[in-house]
Amino acid sequence: MNVILTINGQEFPLRIDPNERLLDTLRKLGFFSIKSGGCEHGECGACTILFDGRPVNSCTMLTAQAEGHLIQTVEAEGEHPDHGWKKTEGLSVIQQAFVEVGAIQCGYCTPAMVLTAKALLDRNPSPDEGQVRDALSGVLCRCTGYIKPVQAVLRAAAVLRGEEVLPVDGPIDVSDVLKPSIEPDDGGEPVLDGRGTLTETKILPKLKIVDPHSEMKTVGHAVTKVDAVKLVQGKPAFTADFEKRDMLYAKVLRSPHAHAEIKHIDTSRAEALPGVAAVLTWKDLPRVAYSTAGQSHPIPGPLDSFSLDHKVRFVGDRVAFVAAESVAIAEAALDLIDVEYEVLEPLLDPTKAMDSGAPVIHDEPEFVNFDESDPSRNIAAEIRIDIGDVETGFAEADRIIEGDYDVPKVQQAHIEPHVVMTYWDEDDRLVIKTSTQVPFHVRRQIAPVLDLPIKRIRVIKPRIGGGFGGKQEVLVEDVAAHLTIATGKPVQYEMTREEEFIGSRTRHPMRIHLKTGLKNDGTITANEMYCLSDTGAYGCHALTVAGNTGHKAMAIYVGDGEYRKNPNIRFYSDVVYTNTVPSGAYRGYGVPQGFWPVERHMENIAREMGMDPIKFRLKNALRSGEIHPFSKAWSEGREPKPETIYTIGLEDCVEQGRMAIDWDHKYDNPQWHSIPGKKHLRKGIGVAMVMQGTAIPYLDMGGASIKMNDDGSFNLLVGATDLGTGSDTVLAQMAAETLGVPVDDIVVYSSDTDFTPFDKGAYASSTTYISGAATVKAAEKVAERIRVRASMMFAEEGKTVKQEDINLEDRRAIAPSGEFFTLEEIGLNALHQTDQEQIMAVASHVSPVAPPPFAAQFAEVTVDVDSGMVTVDKLVMAVDSGVIINPVTASGQIEGGMAQALGYAVSEEMRYDRDGQPREKDFVDYHIFRADEMPELTTIFVETYEPSHPYGAKAVAEIPLDGVAPAVGNAILDACGVALQTIPAIPERIWRNLKGLPSEKEV
Ligand code: FES
Ligand code: FES
Repeated sequence: MNVILTINGQEFPLRIDPNERLLDTLRKLGFFSIKSGGCEHGECGACTILFDGRPVNSCTMLTAQAEGHLIQTVEAEGEHPDHGWKKTEGLSVIQQAFVEVGAIQCGYCTPAMVLTAKALLDRNPSPDEGQVRDALSGVLCRCTGYIKPVQAVLRAAAVLRGEEVLPVDGPIDVSDVLKPSIEPDDGGEPVLDGRGTLTETKILPKLKIVDPHSEMKTVGHAVTKVDAVKLVQGKPAFTADFEKRDMLYAKVLRSPHAHAEIKHIDTSRAEALPGVAAVLTWKDLPRVAYSTAGQSHPIPGPLDSFSLDHKVRFVGDRVAFVAAESVAIAEAALDLIDVEYEVLEPLLDPTKAMDSGAPVIHDEPEFVNFDESDPSRNIAAEIRIDIGDVETGFAEADRIIEGDYDVPKVQQAHIEPHVVMTYWDEDDRLVIKTSTQVPFHVRRQIAPVLDLPIKRIRVIKPRIGGGFGGKQEVLVEDVAAHLTIATGKPVQYEMTREEEFIGSRTRHPMRIHLKTGLKNDGTITANEMYCLSDTGAYGCHALTVAGNTGHKAMAIYVGDGEYRKNPNIRFYSDVVYTNTVPSGAYRGYGVPQGFWPVERHMENIAREMGMDPIKFRLKNALRSGEIHPFSKAWSEGREPKPETIYTIGLEDCVEQGRMAIDWDHKYDNPQWHSIPGKKHLRKGIGVAMVMQGTAIPYLDMGGASIKMNDDGSFNLLVGATDLGTGSDTVLAQMAAETLGVPVDDIVVYSSDTDFTPFDKGAYASSTTYISGAATVKAAEKVAERIRVRASMMFAEEGKTVKQEDINLEDRRAIAPSGEFFTLEEIGLNALHQTDQEQIMAVASHVSPVAPPPFAAQFAEVTVDVDSGMVTVDKLVMAVDSGVIINPVTASGQIEGGMAQALGYAVSEEMRYDRDGQPREKDFVDYHIFRADEMPELTTIFVETYEPSHPYGAKAVAEIPLDGVAPAVGNAILDACGVALQTIPAIPERIWRNLKGLPSEKEV
């Protein structure tokens, strides 16, 4: 049919399919700011447009419905202010506010948020925060925790009203800051005092947190994200935004059964459908066993996956691939593939996986065994770690307290689905453009699967719309690549939201038993954890996720006195297969699973022993200068080496957090716990103390190269993968600081396996620490060459200036006399004038240590004791992540992480019926928090100076996932006496507990 659409004031006469979605039409026309979250029911809002001035989801509208209406997209909002000789009006006020306050992380939801904000401010120029949250509630964001988007809209409203707003990188508001418990030393060198933090303690509240005394020009400052301007305009920066002539679209036929053998498969009807280019089944592909877990070589886990197999192991497992001229044709072809299954008994209960007679999920002869795996017993991995003398520790205890805890299967839920495009280039090399956290691992791991040498594969990572570990998996690249090999054509494959739930990866669910030996004074004498981890149908990250559950959560409490010197800790784990969607990497990587039981258990112990829960924890917690207990025993399947932890800001985190949440007036205060006139409501407050890791020692490697240009600017090439966290910006800040230039002069490119140095990828909270150190090393080498040339140029003028006396600052190489050459002069000289050279350097970094960040998490809740409904009112997190390189991106990480962790605490859970059919397949049944549902969030940074990093930084990305659930659980206990063992804290669980009924698992 023919229609005329009016888009951004321009008319577009079109011939369309009557069933065509408006989203697809608009993207075909090149309006790439409109994103797809892969939804079928319009849940995510990424595809929002303004329709006659109102925000609507373009994925739920037919194009035909749009004729005669006005469509607006972000393309019409504003643009870069400077296009060479053509100056523009720049970004719109709303876009500018989003850039300035750091409201953009991955940026996938940003165009939708900007349009929603515009619609609001057009009708209400003075909205309050509640109205802003209400308006933004139609757009899901998995990155920000919504604080900064809300601030951006309020800021834009103020600017539009003509009011003055403060600069973001302004002075610190220290009005509510406790006096530092340790005064800064004057030498700048870390000083161990044996009990707490190193160097100074300072507070970095929510948004603007620059130390006014700092001499740093960019490190520590709220520098705007280097990709913010592009993302706020909705530029085609994501994988799905790239197109190729003759591109085909892939779809995957997925198993309807949890466990079955494919007896017969007939693709002839599908192949005959006009527009279908290829249909592939297991018979068409080489049979190569591999692991989809994107990890360094050698993979620490079993090789138990095939691109396609004759056996399916979960509902959603792959059965066949189709490539066709359109998504609709590919989908229609799936219905024409005839498959005959022999349905096998499914194994769904991990507690029965090791029983004799249990169905065996991996009976294929090609299975490549890993040291600790035993497929005949459904064991993917096994861990047995004994530190000290655990039995003696228990024997010496005055009492032993035990407990059982459960954590659920949950989804990463990045708003951009997994998406990839593959094609042969003119040299017959396979190009894989993909939304991945691990481009170099993708290249290495996929090569044997495709029967191609690594050198004939090029992996390009564009911007990523969130990953959270879900894209640390080689999950979609092989689908498109096999189809490109089969057809010779470019192929794009993008998962739907349902596929994300039924066919990607999740957090490992676990069942955990804890046993703790205690002296009567509260000293822990021995601590033991047994963890049964469910890896689902494939053993991706099986060993390493479970290992981290113990390595971090069981390391924080070492005991006191003599026990502190030689802690007694046991961590045993069995990681078993079941016929459910595979588990994998998810931000936090096993550690949130460990801290739910550990911190709930510590709370139970403190209460049972009549001790203050904070004092009890701090009495037994690690202190600076002590050895990480697990470093002597385990290192992700490699040789362990003892590691001393020099920076622990835990006590100061507790001090600042308890003040921010007003702990001392609330805890143990019966008056505060009740609400006058509302007997059914009880308030509670809870705490949890947590630690994470920063990269994997002796293993994680990052590389960086820096090249100087003839205007004194630099290209920074990194293999590190910014998945929305702001790591490109943080790396640019460190390079800029070292080279004495503003961040604007650093052009960052990440990452492309042909052009950027190797980096193991974005995981294990390592980019700032590992890739940052590599960047600083490369920058130092470049800085040295600049000084050498400056010294030479001074000599040409008859002046003697030693290179070591030259200071790089403000784009200049400055002699002690104050005379200088600009970096532009030096760049021109180097490339065009005297003894020409390209000033550039490459460097890499591997760390011998993994200094943990620490945090105190506080939560305040209200429980409705009639219904079991829990409302989380407030979350306060005080974090020691070393020196904060960029307070805005770092606080964004904490806020967004707390929001994800809040879902883990109270609402997110993936469940299966008796046949293994998944219940949660979209954002209707699987609830992630919206802007209007969020509690008050407060982030506090307690800075320490980590001596193993050139700018004193530790990790920040994963730790916010660890403490929210136990702090909320402890607050529920405080509110109404329910000692929850299982998350999420859904009303039914609380209600059953309050009524003394058996848990839902027992009925
Ligand atoms: S609401 Fe349209 S893609 Fe999610
Ligand atoms: S910034 Fe909102 S989804 Fe990533």
